[in-house]
Amino acid sequence: MKYFSSSHILHARACLVVLADMHWGFGSVSPRVLAYREWVLSDPARFVFVNGDVLNAATKAGPEEPTEQTGRLNQQIDAAVSFFEPLARADRILGWNGGNHERRLLRAADFDVNAEICQRLGIPSRYSGAPDEWGYSALLHLKVGKNSHGDPNHYTVFLWHGTGGGRLAGAGLNKVGSIVANVVADVYVMSHLHQEAAGVRARIVPDLRTGKLVHRPYRMVVTGPFSEYGGYQEGMGLAPVPCETPKLWFSGREWETAVEM
Ligand SMILES: [Fe+2]
Repeated sequence: MKYFSSSHILHARACLVVLADMHWGFGSVSPRVLAYREWVLSDPARFVFVNGDVLNAATKAGPEEPTEQTGRLNQQIDAAVSFFEPLARADRILGWNGGNHERRLLRAADFDVNAEICQRLGIPSRYSGAPDEWGYSALLHLKVGKNSHGDPNHYTVFLWHGTGGGRLAGAGLNKVGSIVANVVADVYVMSHLHQEAAGVRARIVPDLRTGKLVHRPYRMVVTGPFSEYGGYQEGMGLAPVPCETPKLWFSGREWETAVEM
């Protein structure tokens, strides 16, 4: 697991948009992902974390036929690089996880395509799976605004592409919720299931300074896909879902997280 720390975001509220499951090279990528990119770029307090399956990356060893893809691997890489380039240039990509699709290439050809893409974007250190890290997930530390003590609010977000299946939103929340015992964070995010979902719980934490018990909320989020419905999903009888993803908000005044769906 890689630990990323943002620079101090000097705004009253920061937003993190987790982009994943575009599957470039498989069917068509929804144009809605472009709207999210432009929305992030339009305000300096908005950021992106990339959470895997950016490329379809079919191999002969996998369940899909590479020649049935809508773009060759080099075209998939070019599409991802040109899409993320404005975000990388504006320093809005806070981190990058790989997904199971990109891992197929690692297994089949010992080629880490996410390392290649991040290198081309000029952000190699933002990739959680860099060869010296060998990671699959990330813990992101955000420092936002100025609270009543004049200090930034601190937030932690755990991000992981995810594994497994499940046709209903609850399956995703169970999966991401299973991480809660392993890692302490304020928000837990996974992708992969192509169906957005969100839930919230709280932990009772002792504040040893004041001798009081604090109920500290944590949120569990499953992101949505940007791969248009058809092909594999249709063949598997999966439900069509909108190509949209939750926006994660972090207040720079009162300590407060929110998920906008
Ligand atoms: Fe996936």
